Amino acid sequence: MNTSSNLIATEQRLGANNYKPLDVVLTRGEGVHVWDTDGMRYLDCLSAYSAVNQGHCHPRILAAMVEQAGRLTLTSRAFRNDQLAYLYEELAALTGSHKILPMNSGAEAVETAIKAVRKWGYEVKGVPEGQAEIIVCANNFHGRTLSIISFSTDPDARAGFGPYTPGFRTVPFGDAEALAAAINANTVAVLIEPIQGEAGVIIPPAGYFTRVRELCTANNVTLILDEIQTGLGRTGRLLAEEHEGIEADVTLIGKALSGGFYPVSAVLSNSEVLGVLKPGQHGSTFGGNPLACAVARAALKVLVEEGMIENAEKMGDYFLEGLSSIRSNIVKDVRGRGLMLAVELEPEAGGARQYCYALKDLGLLAKDTHDHTIRFAPPLVITRDQVDWAVEQIEKALT
Ligand SMILES: Cc1ncc(COP(=O)(O)O)c(C=O)c1O
Repeated sequence: MNTSSNLIATEQRLGANNYKPLDVVLTRGEGVHVWDTDGMRYLDCLSAYSAVNQGHCHPRILAAMVEQAGRLTLTSRAFRNDQLAYLYEELAALTGSHKILPMNSGAEAVETAIKAVRKWGYEVKGVPEGQAEIIVCANNFHGRTLSIISFSTDPDARAGFGPYTPGFRTVPFGDAEALAAAINANTVAVLIEPIQGEAGVIIPPAGYFTRVRELCTANNVTLILDEIQTGLGRTGRLLAEEHEGIEADVTLIGKALSGGFYPVSAVLSNSEVLGVLKPGQHGSTFGGNPLACAVARAALKVLVEEGMIENAEKMGDYFLEGLSSIRSNIVKDVRGRGLMLAVELEPEAGGARQYCYALKDLGLLAKDTHDHTIRFAPPLVITRDQVDWAVEQIEKALT
C-alpha cells in the first residue's frame, strides 16, 4: 500500500465516521494550489469551505503567526493581552461595528449571538422570561452544536440528537412576507445567511434583505446575519450585506478571519445587544487569545491591502460567465455571486459526487453539496488564467 492508502485505512479504522471526504490526502498548499502525498497538484475550489480566502499558507499571515507563536500564545481572558485591543480597533474600523466578541469556531459565534439576543430580548425589549423566539430559515446551515441543529431542517444534521432546544421558528428562505407573518411580540431576532452556502449557494431574490431589514427595524427585532461563509470577501464585498446596502445589527464572521491558519470567529454588533453580557455570563478559554488576534489582524490586512475583495468580484463574474458557457445536458442551473459559485446538475446525472471525482482526476478539487450540486469557491487570489483552466476542466468533466 502507498502512503495515502495507508493513511486512509488508518483514518477509517480509528476515526469517527462523521465525514465522507474525497479520497485525496493533501500534504502541502500554496496560493490556490494544494498537493497530495503522491505529488499531484490540484486547484482548490473549496478553500476549506471559504476559510482559506487569502490562499493557502499566505506568507504574511504565516509570518505573523510564527512571530506571535514565539512570543505569547494564550493568556486566557483572566488577563489582558497586547493583541486583542488592536484586533477590536481594526475590525471596528473595517466593519463599523461598536462591540465585538471573539470566539473560535463559527458555531460558537452563532451560539454566542443566540445567547446575547435572548438576554437582550428579556432585558431590553421586555419579552417575558423564557418566551424569546428566534426566526430562522428552512435549509439553513449555522453549525453543528445541539441548539443549532435543533433548528436545522436537514434530517441528517438533526435526527437522533433530541431533545432539542426550543425557541426557534422556521420560515422559507427568500420569502419576506412569510417572515413578516412569523414575527410576534416575543420575536427577539431573525438569523439568516445572506446566501445559503451549504444548501447549494442559494441566492435570495433582489430586495429580500431590504425588506427583512425594514421588518426587523419596524418590529424591534435584531437582524443577525451569519456571514461566516459569505463574509470577508467571498462574494466580492467585504460583507455580503453590502450587495443590498443594508446593515445587520449582529454580524457573525469566522473561517477566513484567520485565513485558514487557526479557528477564529467573532460576533460584531451594535452596543445594545452585546452590551447585555456581563462578566461570567459568556466566554471561552481560547477566545481572543493573542495568537488568534495576531493571525486575524494579518488575515484582514492581507485581504484588504492585496485587493482580494475586488479580485473576488472580477474573477467571480468571469468564472460565472465561463460556467454559464458550458453546454451540457446534465447542467440544470449555474449560479453564484463573487467567488461563491455552484453548478446544479439534473437529477438524471446520478449525483454530483462522481463528477467531483472526475474533476479530482483532472486536478481540480470541488465538493458536492446536497447530492446534485457542485460548489466552486476557490481562494480569492485566483487569476484569469487559472479560472480559464478551471472552466476547461469542469467542461471536460460535465460533457
Ligand atoms: C454559514 C455558516 N455558519 C456557521 C458555520 C459553522 O462554522 P464552524 O464549522 O466553524 O463551526 C458554517 C460552516 O460551514 C457556515 O457555513
